[in-house]
Formats: sequence, structure tokens, C-alpha cells
Amino acid sequence: MNDHLLSQWEANAEAFAQLINGRGTPHHRKILNPCIHRLMGDVKGKKILDAGCGEGYLSRIYTEKGADVVGVDFSPKLIALSQKRSAGLDIEFLVADICQLDSLKDNQFDVVLCNLVLLNVECLDKSLHEFYRVLRPSGFLIFSVVHPAFNVYGPGYWEVGEKIKTTGRRKGKYFISDQYFTEKEFFVLWKSRKGDGFPQKFSFFHRTISTYVNQVINTGFRLMALEEPLPVEATEFFDRERRIPFFLVIKAEKP
Ligand SMILES: C[S@@+](CC[C@H](N)C(=O)[O-])C[C@H]1O[C@@H](n2cnc3c(N)ncnc32)[C@H](O)[C@@H]1O
Repeated sequence: MNDHLLSQWEANAEAFAQLINGRGTPHHRKILNPCIHRLMGDVKGKKILDAGCGEGYLSRIYTEKGADVVGVDFSPKLIALSQKRSAGLDIEFLVADICQLDSLKDNQFDVVLCNLVLLNVECLDKSLHEFYRVLRPSGFLIFSVVHPAFNVYGPGYWEVGEKIKTTGRRKGKYFISDQYFTEKEFFVLWKSRKGDGFPQKFSFFHRTISTYVNQVINTGFRLMALEEPLPVEATEFFDRERRIPFFLVIKAEKP
């Protein structure tokens, strides 16, 4: 079921690791991560599963903050890159599919962090059940997705305006959001403004906010927070992201 998804990530692994550059993009650092860090709270001594860890930069951040982190990803290439980039840190990285985390025991993690992954998987329901299973009671899940209502990788797009001289980016005139209720797989060829990008299209599963929230609740979780983080910097670079949310973040507890 995951074969085409896995081959996409294997093909894009190096370009993705280059994009993340060991520390995340400006969108991660200035919008998403401050929100995630606040929701994570004090992680010292906590056992964290970084589910879909990519090249492992969040695993490194939380290890350096004193957590005991296990990073899993279904891409052997990304796990190899995680290990290489995390040399010297005590992090366990495993090749594993979040749809079926057979290698992980029940009730063992304080936190499951799943950053920008569930939008790339078909098995939302199974992954949430696996996260629930491996969390201990009172443990919590935090996951983020690109905001489904303003989905640049799905059915929506920006009508672009004039070029911002300092950043080279175009101002957004307005966002066109359409076909919100049509949940389906989109194939995205990611390109940066500089023109570099991924060699292969990757899958992006558009789902409504109610699908995400209801699946979380139906799995047995208790919803704790739903956030639409704003950029922490009010610069021209984030002109669009200060007008409409780019990310949606959910925190939910296993009772
Ligand atoms: C957009 S990247 C995010 C990576 C990382 N969480 C971060 O914030 O940089 C999505 C990641 O999910 C992984 N992934 C996608 N489907 C997966 C699955 N079924 N099981 C495990 N990992 C998966 C990909 O290999 C990729 O590393």
C-alpha cells in the first residue's frame, strides 16, 4: 500500500535533507517550531517518539533539551541521514512505518511528536491508533499539518501580486480556497523560490480539519489544543503567513 509513497521519499531524501539543512526552514523556525516547543513543555527526562523523523533535526533538538528520543521513518535513506547528522548524540533511529509500528511496545512513550507527516500518509486512522497504543496513559500526541483550509499543496493557491524587493518573494493578493470537501491525494513537485527543489513528485493527502479532529477523538484521545501559529517575526517575508495560517497543530492526550 505504501510502496509508491516510500519510493517518493527515497527519491527525494537527499533534496529534503538539503532543504531542512539540519535545522529546519524559515517556516519551521519562525512559525511552526515555537508553537511545537510551547506545546511540548519541559521535555527533560521524557521519552519521545519522533514519528516520521525525516533527517532527524527535531530528534536532535529534544535530545539536547534532555529527552530520551526514538526517531522512526519508513525511508532507510532518511534514517541513514539522521544517524549521520546526529553522530555523537544518543538517539535511537529505526526504519519503521507509522501505519504499523510493530517494533515498538505498548504504553512506553510520554510524547509522540509527528511533525508534518500525517499529510503524507494514506493510513491516518491506523497511525493514530499506533500512536495511541505506544503512548502511556496521560501521555500526549502532538502533530502538525499544512493548514487544510488554506492548502497550497492541495486545492488552494495564491493569486500573486507585486514582487517584494528585499526577499524576491511575491506578495499575496488573495488566497483561493476551493474543493475543500474533496479529500484526495495530490501529487506535488516542490520547488523553492530559488528554483531548486525535489527530483520527484510526492503525495499530499488533503483532508478537512473535521476529519483530522474527529479521527483523533474517535481513536480515544482527548483534544487538548488546536493551534494555527502566526510567524514570530512580522517581516515582509511572512506577508502571506500573517494573513492566513500556514500550519495547523493539534495536541491530544491519551486518557
Ligand atoms: C515532510 S517530512 C517531515 C520530516 C520531519 N518530521 C520534519 O519535521 O522535518 C515527512 C516525513 O515522513 C516520512 N514518512 C512518510 N510516510 C511515512 C510512514 N508511513 N511511516 C514513517 N515515515 C513516513 C517521510 O519519509 C518523511 O521523512
